[in-house]
Amino acid sequence: SRGLCMAMERTYIMAKPDAVQRGLVSDIIGRFEKKGYKLVALKLVKPARSLLEEHYDSLKDKAFFPSLMDYMTSGPVVAMVWEGKNVVATGRTMLGATNPLESAPGTIRGDFSIEVGRNICHGSDSVENAEREIKLWFGEGTIDWSSHSQGWIYE
Ligand code: PPS
Repeated sequence: SRGLCMAMERTYIMAKPDAVQRGLVSDIIGRFEKKGYKLVALKLVKPARSLLEEHYDSLKDKAFFPSLMDYMTSGPVVAMVWEGKNVVATGRTMLGATNPLESAPGTIRGDFSIEVGRNICHGSDSVENAEREIKLWFGEGTIDWSSHSQGWIYE
């Protein structure tokens, strides 16, 4: 089918330290798997402050930046790359609104969090940023493989 050979979008999804501590990683991964997206990279890392400063470069003048850095360096994160049709925007929809009090029930944040400063997951907000973030977190690259289920997921 066309889905197998189409150039697919990729996004950077990260389970934040609270998601790892609270045992929510499997749920986050499970939702992306069950939706039909394809996992092409995954690792548990305790990110250096310098890596996070680069990742969140556009936020460095925000008042919450120091607390964001403390939060994000408080434990390991699970860094992932997911691939599939419209995965950047749909991934953000699956995560839910940034502020968990505004995220709909049924979304990851809506179901599992309360505080914007403990919102359990990150997803790239544009195709351009996805590319930047994937390069930043996965300098070693991703894995190219063919999923047999794709013929059942894509027309
Ligand atoms: S902003 O202010 O519009 O740039 O913020 P926004 O685009 O909504 O969010 C950008 C990232 O900053 C995180 N964020 C916060 N962290 C800690 N405390 C507070 N108050 C806060 N507000 C926003 C937010 O979760 C976004 O990070 P990611 O990793 O994408 O979730």
